Amino acid sequence: MTRLICTANRGFSVYAMEELKRLFAGFSLQFRQLAAGEIFMMEADTGREEALLAIRGREPIFLRHVQPIDKALPIRGNADDLQALSELVRNARLRGEGKTVAVHLRRADGTRYPYSAADTKAVVDAVLAETGSEPAVQSPELILSLYAGEEELYAGWGTPEEQLSDWPGGAIRFQREEGQISRAKFKLLEAERAFKLHLADFRSALDIGAAPGGWTSLLLERGLKVTAVDPAELHASLAGHPRLTYMNKNASEVKFKPASFDLLVCDMSWSPMLMVKLVLELEAALAGGAAAIITVKLMHKKPLQTIRDVIAKLETVFELRKAKQLFHNRDEITIYLVKR
Ligand SMILES: C[S@@+](CC[C@H](N)C(=O)[O-])C[C@H]1O[C@@H](n2cnc3c(N)ncnc32)[C@H](O)[C@@H]1O
Repeated sequence: MTRLICTANRGFSVYAMEELKRLFAGFSLQFRQLAAGEIFMMEADTGREEALLAIRGREPIFLRHVQPIDKALPIRGNADDLQALSELVRNARLRGEGKTVAVHLRRADGTRYPYSAADTKAVVDAVLAETGSEPAVQSPELILSLYAGEEELYAGWGTPEEQLSDWPGGAIRFQREEGQISRAKFKLLEAERAFKLHLADFRSALDIGAAPGGWTSLLLERGLKVTAVDPAELHASLAGHPRLTYMNKNASEVKFKPASFDLLVCDMSWSPMLMVKLVLELEAALAGGAAAIITVKLMHKKPLQTIRDVIAKLETVFELRKAKQLFHNRDEITIYLVKR
């Protein structure tokens, strides 16, 4: 029996469960909600490694983070909690010996666990150092994830790959920069990491639905030439950039020479099927092997069906590499494709 704490973007856990049911078809599964619409426990009659491997192998779109439950400690609400946690980490010394280990704590609303993430980390780090691990914050080899529920503190070890993220609960944060044009920029920054892309490796990008220009500004920062298409204005700070061509048009009105771009990005606030039609009309402007990063709005009640339909249409021209609801996506997901 394996227990996992699963996290989705708020309001989307029901779809993550749906995907997990499909992934573990034939196994007995039980779900228990921990935080409404967002965090839930999955109990499956399968082995721990088997479960984590299955999830990594076919990563559910709406599952942002997964934490195995290797141990559960009753919460007393006083210093005994830190004592018990230290003991647990000491006894599990072999898991982290010789490795860099990060400690992540999430606290449920209403938990009796009294300590902050920083206080917990300070204590656990000392035990880790004592037992031959190297406490780390950035790029750890292993993460000790802790979830303080109402009555129990759940602890689980896993690599960032197994947990699907190296951020607590998959909630990746970026620093807001001075003069940043839009919050949308965070979506492309997150996509770059989630899809293991090196945007700087591309030469020439087409950005449709570009205004006010957050994505365009990131592509320019990465050194690309960018053609930005939008009937709305770009932010004034982008005007006159030597590598930027701005077309003040609807994307259905533009035409390009064949194979002009090796990257298409599309973050249009539009119906998914109209977006697909536009992208397919512009397909000849992309070179073979070009990448596409596209936001898919989830406009009606059946997101999984919408996603299947969108992907099936795009697969006539592209190969899907990954579809994911990113932490910075709201009622949408992001897909990464490569032109055949
Ligand atoms: C969410 S915003 C894009 C934000 C942008 N990615 C950024 O980082 O600043 C969506 C944009 O899509 C544009 N849009 C919607 N339909 C479009 C179409 N048919 N052709 C071009 N742009 C379109 C809207 O004008 C709007 O500026």
